[in-house]
Amino acid sequence: MVYLNGRWMPIEEASIPVLDRGFIFGDGVYEVVPVYGRKPFRLEGHLARLEASLKAIAIANPHTREEWRALVAEIIARQPFDNQGVYFQVTRGVARRDHAFPRNAKPTVFMMSNPLATPSAETYAKGVACVTAVDNRWLRCDIKSTSLLGNVLMRQFAAEHDALETVMFRDGMLTEASASNVLVVKDGVILSPPQGNLMLPGITLDAAIDLARAAGLPLTMRPISEAEVRGADELWLSSSTKEVLPITRLDGVPVGHGETAGRPGPMFARIRAAFDAAKAAL
Ligand SMILES: Cc1ncc(COP(=O)(O)O)c(C=O)c1O
Repeated sequence: MVYLNGRWMPIEEASIPVLDRGFIFGDGVYEVVPVYGRKPFRLEGHLARLEASLKAIAIANPHTREEWRALVAEIIARQPFDNQGVYFQVTRGVARRDHAFPRNAKPTVFMMSNPLATPSAETYAKGVACVTAVDNRWLRCDIKSTSLLGNVLMRQFAAEHDALETVMFRDGMLTEASASNVLVVKDGVILSPPQGNLMLPGITLDAAIDLARAAGLPLTMRPISEAEVRGADELWLSSSTKEVLPITRLDGVPVGHGETAGRPGPMFARIRAAFDAAKAAL
């Protein structure tokens, strides 16, 4: 069952008017929350980011934090499977087509939940291939907007090159990947670009940072150059559906040095263990 504007229904019955601004302009924001054993992972972080995204584009939040929690709990309960990816989006609503905000539109709220499609054990063991590109998206990548054309083109570029993701650089500095954040390991230190308007404040990234700190792994948030990415000991992707996933080939070149070149590294093994423990403790 999916949720649309206050009602539960089979997805086949869910429909929205063609003048919904989400359809016409991509004028909306969204969230994806991973759920393990029917327990949402880092729900408060996702709800806080939703509130921030709505505020950034001046859509009045249609629900309180308490109501969102209840809706998420209900959609989880309504699915027959335990591990889920709960997707929800809010658009500015239905109005005559004009770029400027309509006066009286009511936000459209849609939620669905699908089986959580995390990568296979083999994928975690081997790592994944990524390609690179110049980040040509807009300058508000911190908003989790449904206007995803830039990301769609980047992800398609990866798919056409037998890669999972496109890692992006803006002015020679790492931003993020098409649908994930990127972490770098060099000389035993985990590096992450500073939060700001050039990348999404990933909830999985937050979790990885907290887990690394708790495990005593050194971590620094600072600008990271393209050369540092290409010379990294390890590269990781993070996202709600990928968790933390090692990149083992970048533009066809094995990531890392020596024995672990082209293979997941020792720091990955530690963050992965911490991540698994955090999921088990939910
Ligand atoms: C562009 C982009 N960056 C980062 C992320 C990771 O965010 P999160 O860990 O909250 O899923 C996503 C997730 O879909 C994304 O689309």
